[in-house]
Amino acid sequence: MRDLLMLLADGGFYSGNDLGRQLGVSRAAVWKRIQRVTGEYGVTVQSVPGKGYRLSQPLQLLNRDVIQQALPALPIFMYESIGSTNDQAKQLLGTYSAPLAVFAEHQTQGKGRRGREWVSPFAQNLYLSFVWPVTEGLNQIDGLSLLVGVAVAKAIKRLSGIDAQLKWPNDVLIGKRKVAGILLELIGDPVELCHVVIGIGVNLNMLDSFDSIDQEWTSLGKEMGGTVSRELFAKTVLEELAHYLEKQKNHGFSSIRAEWNELHAWQGANVNLHIGTNIVSGQIVGIGDKGEICLLVEGEERKYLGGELSLRLQNDS
Ligand code: BTN
Repeated sequence: MRDLLMLLADGGFYSGNDLGRQLGVSRAAVWKRIQRVTGEYGVTVQSVPGKGYRLSQPLQLLNRDVIQQALPALPIFMYESIGSTNDQAKQLLGTYSAPLAVFAEHQTQGKGRRGREWVSPFAQNLYLSFVWPVTEGLNQIDGLSLLVGVAVAKAIKRLSGIDAQLKWPNDVLIGKRKVAGILLELIGDPVELCHVVIGIGVNLNMLDSFDSIDQEWTSLGKEMGGTVSRELFAKTVLEELAHYLEKQKNHGFSSIRAEWNELHAWQGANVNLHIGTNIVSGQIVGIGDKGEICLLVEGEERKYLGGELSLRLQNDS
């Protein structure tokens, strides 16, 4: 499929004969592949009599060799279409040792936080799972999901000059809209060797509106008014991630806390923290050394960490 998509990637017209010749298959086989690309990957291919086939919008496919330049020793696994890069990363961990990274062009079952779907159209965004071994005890997990947000925000800044902001624990926003989401999964026994699967989804060139997205979203391309190089973003985010993970491992999350607070979208805001069915109302003071959200509640500072917590503004206008 990749060969066919590479030929069509520029969005130009290609006849069935041309494609068949270049791929070394018959016109009928080309047609069958076009059907698969449409059905399995959700890519729209137009067929115009007398002109041939063309993609409804040009595609940038990821090249592993280019991304590998960021971290030459890192095992990188690339897929065209899989369920979820997080699930694939967990499977690979049975055979390969971490750290390792998994990229996909398309996810059929992209997972978001709190059981949500993560919409993952083909070759438009970044879908990455990075597996990080926890070798220094549980302190290494403190604030981990928050530092990933910092890494993504820094990558956005380096690539576009745009100041993204963070919403606790790890939503990455531009203005009030979500541009990236992070899903961490802990694998193994936390008192023995365990691994963290760090799933990162960044909306890069997504333009369409998808009914299943029930939050305000944007993409970096929309914000920049152009097209983002997916490879360049993938390289940059890997570099930033490796930098912050090492910093956390060597100096703890407290060494990154100030940077997180600088990027904090809701510092000082009045919020409701939803804890299961309970709601705590307070004012955000900042985050603690373990990545907890610190709220001023009835004159007293309280800290909340992890689990199914969700933060909402009290006056969201
Ligand atoms: C969120 O709800 O904010 C978290 C979204 C995380 C999405 C990424 S995309 C790569 C990785 N694979 C998944 O299935 N989910 C994460």
